[in-house]
Amino acid sequence: MKYKVSPNNKVFELREEDFIVSKTDSKGLITYCNKIFIEYAKYTEKELLGSQHNIIRHPDMPRSIFKLLWGTIGQKKEIFAYVKNMSKDGSAYWVIANVTASLDENNSIIGHYSVRRKPKSTAVRAVSDLYKEMVDIERRSGTRDAISASTEYLMSILSKGGKSYEEFVLSL
Ligand SMILES: Cc1cc2nc3c(=O)[nH]c(=O)nc-3n(C[C@H](O)[C@H](O)[C@H](O)COP(=O)(O)O)c2cc1C
Repeated sequence: MKYKVSPNNKVFELREEDFIVSKTDSKGLITYCNKIFIEYAKYTEKELLGSQHNIIRHPDMPRSIFKLLWGTIGQKKEIFAYVKNMSKDGSAYWVIANVTASLDENNSIIGHYSVRRKPKSTAVRAVSDLYKEMVDIERRSGTRDAISASTEYLMSILSKGGKSYEEFVLSL
């Protein structure tokens, strides 16, 4: 089910003790979410279960970050990423997310698991500026070249600091 949500300027901050948890099947359809997930997403559990995880995608998020996310978990590695999410009422909330693949006894991916916590406000400021530039690059490059252009920009910024995306995320 697709919901038409437009972003507004409201941003909600997580509490220090909040853990936002969700699980998906191998295709990214939500199979579980905890109460805190529901509280911030502002959808009902019924609306969330069986939906694609992009139900809470915020338009301020660069597409290349999700490409990196899926590429990393597809290799059965974990990823830490800053994500701006959008609630059903158009408000936003920033998280630092850890996403992993769930494997069966044959080492095949049977689903994914994500835990999100409150990010530091200094990190949110740094990442919002970076993501804003990346989204602008994606818009200017057109659909076909969007992801490669913003990935190239991200890599150039990271290589200046001599860090991988993970090292950058964990250093903020
Ligand atoms: C376990 C797991 C958790 C995810 N969590 C989020 C999330 O919190 N917010 C989000 O926008 N996308 C999340 N995604 C990525 C989405 O599946 C999707 O790739 C992203 O929203 C971009 O959607 P789009 O390709 O339709 O633009 C998650 C994916 C997985 C596998």
